[in-house]
Amino acid sequence: MNSFIYDIPTKVYFGPNQLGNLGKELAAYGKKVLLCYGGGSIKKSGLYARVAAQVKEAGLELFELSGIDPNPRVTSVRAGADICKREGVDVVLAVGGGSVLDCSKYIAAGACYDGDPWDFSSGAAAPERALPLITVLTLAATGSEMDNGGVITNIETKDKIGRGYPCMQPKVSFLDPTETYSVGRYQTACGCADILSHLLEIYFVPEGGSMYMLDRFMEGMIKTVIKYAPVALEQPDSYEARANLMWTSSWAINGMAGALQNCGWTCHPIEHELSAIYDITHGLGLAILTPRWMKYVLDDTTVGRFREYGVNVFGIDPSLPTMDIARRSIELTEDFLFNKLGLQSTLTEIGIDSRNFDIMAGKSCHGEVLKGYKALTPEDVRKILEMCL
Ligand code: NZQ
Ligand code: ZN
Repeated sequence: MNSFIYDIPTKVYFGPNQLGNLGKELAAYGKKVLLCYGGGSIKKSGLYARVAAQVKEAGLELFELSGIDPNPRVTSVRAGADICKREGVDVVLAVGGGSVLDCSKYIAAGACYDGDPWDFSSGAAAPERALPLITVLTLAATGSEMDNGGVITNIETKDKIGRGYPCMQPKVSFLDPTETYSVGRYQTACGCADILSHLLEIYFVPEGGSMYMLDRFMEGMIKTVIKYAPVALEQPDSYEARANLMWTSSWAINGMAGALQNCGWTCHPIEHELSAIYDITHGLGLAILTPRWMKYVLDDTTVGRFREYGVNVFGIDPSLPTMDIARRSIELTEDFLFNKLGLQSTLTEIGIDSRNFDIMAGKSCHGEVLKGYKALTPEDVRKILEMCL
């Protein structure tokens, strides 16, 4: 069995009425704050005003970077890092969804680096230091609030690259489920598809890649997403649903459940290539890919794991033939993603054809092999993409 280190140095304030602690947490790291946010949802919801009031009450100086896009661009990272250097910013405050948080992580690292922050994405350099980062999460999906990863897009080169560095781990994250009441149906559904994918990427591992306790923990989280996503869609202000989804989003990817994972991820690297070229929503790309990937890797060597998934997550009758259970588990995954969440189910529906499949397949495998649950060649990835049409 593999050894692992478990270390999550992020302090979490969870629940309503916790934002009153923001001022003192910021002040603990310095006087000058760079507030990073997206296209304006935080102004509409009133969160911006409440955050600004905290900064003011704590006697801190506020600088701003707004307009961070979904699939955040390296141009925003560069702009934020420049503000930090120019103004001598002490602490970065990210208020928004995963895109704002990811971008802020690279801004915090870019602020302490003389070169182009894209180097951290391309792999040309690894940040050793970053400004302290505090986050206020508004969308349950990526888990960026409690991990050290971030995914940045370079429109010029059509690259979307995810990497993680310990210095980018948020120091403090504020998770208030009521802030997600305003997330619309589509983003709620995409967020839930993303959480589910994070769990499936670590659940489907070769023998020895997990342990009994972690398997049951992951199955519990998968069941939580399946139970509460439809509730959040029907009742956007259900605290119970939003709270369960938010805390699951953090724990799905914070290193605990996947502690022993002995293989890489599969759907995420392929999805990043789709987003890089077509700028689609991450969770939608994952929803379309996941059941096709499952069908592609299902065989005599993987059927046992699918059976476990089918019986323990969906409650399929364990006395049925193993392959029938496995196939049914994939059908039920499709039913959840496309019927319960109502997401589009093919690339064709969202205007994507096969013309870039070879490029995407090659890049997701880095020209060689995608080392996931089952190792995939570019040819395999191309076939999975074709199944998505
Ligand atoms: O920009 P604003 O106006 O804030 O609107 C956003 C955006 O349009 C909106 N939104 C966010 N909170 C809202 C809200 N609208 C109403 N009410 C609220 N409370 O939702 C839209 C999407 O936001 P975005 O941040 O892009 O969504 P998400 O959290 O799903 O983040 C996706 C990004 O995270 C990356 C993805 O690749 C993608 O770039 N990922 C990051 C990971 C990580 N750091 O570990 C892992 C993931 O696998 C993922 O790759
Ligand atoms: Zn994801």
